[in-house]
Amino acid sequence: MINNQWYAILPSKAVKKEAVVSVKRLNQELVLFRNRDGELGCVVDQCTHRGAALSRGKLQGECLQCPFHGLEFNPQGHCTFVPANGRASTADLSRFNVKAYGVRESHGIIYLWYGEPEKQTGELPFFDGDIDDSFVCSEIEDHWPTHYSRCIENQLDVIHLPFVHHNTIGRGNKTLVNGPKIEFVPGGLVTSANNETDVGQTPKAADDCVIKATYLKFLFPNIWMNHISEATKVIIYFAPVDDENTILYLRFYCRSTRLRPVNALIAWFGKFGNRLIERQDRRVVITQKPKASAFISKENLLSGDGPVIQYRRIRDELKRRK
Ligand code: FES
Ligand SMILES: [Fe+2]
Repeated sequence: MINNQWYAILPSKAVKKEAVVSVKRLNQELVLFRNRDGELGCVVDQCTHRGAALSRGKLQGECLQCPFHGLEFNPQGHCTFVPANGRASTADLSRFNVKAYGVRESHGIIYLWYGEPEKQTGELPFFDGDIDDSFVCSEIEDHWPTHYSRCIENQLDVIHLPFVHHNTIGRGNKTLVNGPKIEFVPGGLVTSANNETDVGQTPKAADDCVIKATYLKFLFPNIWMNHISEATKVIIYFAPVDDENTILYLRFYCRSTRLRPVNALIAWFGKFGNRLIERQDRRVVITQKPKASAFISKENLLSGDGPVIQYRRIRDELKRRK
């Protein structure tokens, strides 16, 4: 994992009001809970008293109550009440505090701050310039038994299109890979496929290529967009579960017509179409070894792997950053 980043981990709708939800993310068993006021908390799913799973507990006012002996914890992880000590007790409860993670929400996504709390930034990675309220979106999830870095790389890989997707988005046998051109944007990179049918020509260098109208944008640490057109986009956030598992949340965004219900219908179908493509990827990507990618590796990379290499390079830099 890269430290000091906001990771998109779960859709907001997965944690309803007064709900307690257990999830594994970033190699940690976590419990997310939302109190009556809509405030969201995220703490390690293990009580500091005698180790029971807090996710079996329930909400008590603004706090999460452990199912075993009733200790209560607020969204910041502070222990606020130990029933056995009685209401009148004034004892310091801080030794019972449970590790809490900073969580924020935007665009219906829960982001978790992975790193040092004092380094928390205000910015949540999202495609604000590309996606606004004029779009309708529909979301679907899928599980890939591999490290999230492999899933992300796959979405930046333009060489695989005529092979993995020979009968869908990679139709036409465009096996020759020009570039690809890569542009760096704050927090990530942009690239686009510029493949051609091989008629004996030499592939163009990246500098001789352009970013096309259909392009890919990735923002660290784990959110990607396929800008299909001004009216249709796909985003995927890759929630890391552990070193060998990732949940993909795929959203199809549409504003193709003036009628929101029609756009909603297109988005609803669109997500299934994209899942079909994503499943073609999954079949192959989950076989890659090792499960996690690395900047320094034994792989034999090609010019067409440029976006993958840049992803690895930046990831490596961010991981080293203090
Ligand atoms: S284990 Fe949670 S209150 Fe005892
Ligand atoms: Fe693919």
